[in-house]
Amino acid sequence: MSGVVLRNLVKSYDGKKNVIDNINLDIKDKEFVVLVGSSGCGKSTILRLISGLEDITSGEVLIDGKVINNTPPKDRDIAFVFQSYALYPHMSVYDNMAFGLKMRKYDKSVIDEKVREVAKALNLEELLDRKPKQLSGGQRQRVALGRAIVRNPKVFLMDEPLSNLDANLRVQMRSEIKRLHNKLQTTFVYVTHDQTEALTMGDRIVILDKGKIQQADSPEIIYNKPANKFVAGFIGQMNFIDVNVINGSFEIEGVKFDGCNIPDGYVTVGIRAEKMTCGDKSVFVKPEITEMTGGERIVYFNLNNCRCSAKVPMDYLVGDNIELKISSGNMYFFDSESGEVIKNEKV
Ligand SMILES: Nc1ncnc2c1ncn2[C@@H]1O[C@H](COP(=O)(O)OP(=O)(O)OP(=O)(O)O)[C@@H](O)[C@H]1O
Ligand SMILES: [Mg+2]
Repeated sequence: MSGVVLRNLVKSYDGKKNVIDNINLDIKDKEFVVLVGSSGCGKSTILRLISGLEDITSGEVLIDGKVINNTPPKDRDIAFVFQSYALYPHMSVYDNMAFGLKMRKYDKSVIDEKVREVAKALNLEELLDRKPKQLSGGQRQRVALGRAIVRNPKVFLMDEPLSNLDANLRVQMRSEIKRLHNKLQTTFVYVTHDQTEALTMGDRIVILDKGKIQQADSPEIIYNKPANKFVAGFIGQMNFIDVNVINGSFEIEGVKFDGCNIPDGYVTVGIRAEKMTCGDKSVFVKPEITEMTGGERIVYFNLNNCRCSAKVPMDYLVGDNIELKISSGNMYFFDSESGEVIKNEKV
């Protein structure tokens, strides 16, 4: 059992501002948790607090139910894979992978067995004598993973490990890391700002903003039931349209939607870009920009003076008259001030 619990966790670097602002999170044994959020929201800080590279300002970190606030990093049984890989440049791949075990005074034959076993699993056998500078980015990445795996830690922390790789390799490594997780049956805490990585890899996604958890749920719930506008805007491509609700009715570009079970006043309506062509009401727009991104076509236009986009099934030109089909059944409603989702939103 190697769950990680964060209890009322606070971190301030300067004694004034809390960059981690009272975080509570219960990461279960063997769970793959992905932390996502924009740059500076505190993702790396959370990993550094768990690993002990950074002191906790207040609150607690527990592993296996034990508070480890005062346990030195080397005794926490955690492996950390950094974005930069941080391989030792003067050591061979073999020695890089063996280093952690040597430090822990393992027997030479045990080290050799473990390193070769992991090298085989990661397809690194041919590269064991090379130095890091003689490797490609993807190979270095695998060495960094291998170095973490040989130690057989209780918990893996990974801080944007794929961000230095090209797009194709990222996709490939994504599934490799997932496979690794299934095989190792260990707790993974994985940081990324890539929403596709989060959705495809995580058993659970934790969305952070300004040092606070906005939502922590399965990818399905995060996508289908976002708790607030921040989450809705961060995962997927959602349009936000300002409307004024009067007696349960509002208008988008003059088209009336009624019977909505939400209070009167200014409200932000959310509709995903892929749901702009599957409703029962027609709204006509002229695109200002059109994009073809491989399999998808996206058009950009305004609704109620709010910038919106739609995924459409055919090519359009700027200025074409496009008929969108929207319905209130595909709408989310957010409080215009707080951004919190307004419940009972669906008609
Ligand atoms: N050693 C430090 N001293 C002072 N402030 C720091 C330190 N490290 C991080 N910060 C600040 O703490 C906040 C959170 O930083 P952190 O590195 O955790 O963000 P992040 O979510 O990992 O961002 P990114 O996606 O850019 O890596 C930021 O405002 C950052 O400037
Ligand atoms: Mg970071």
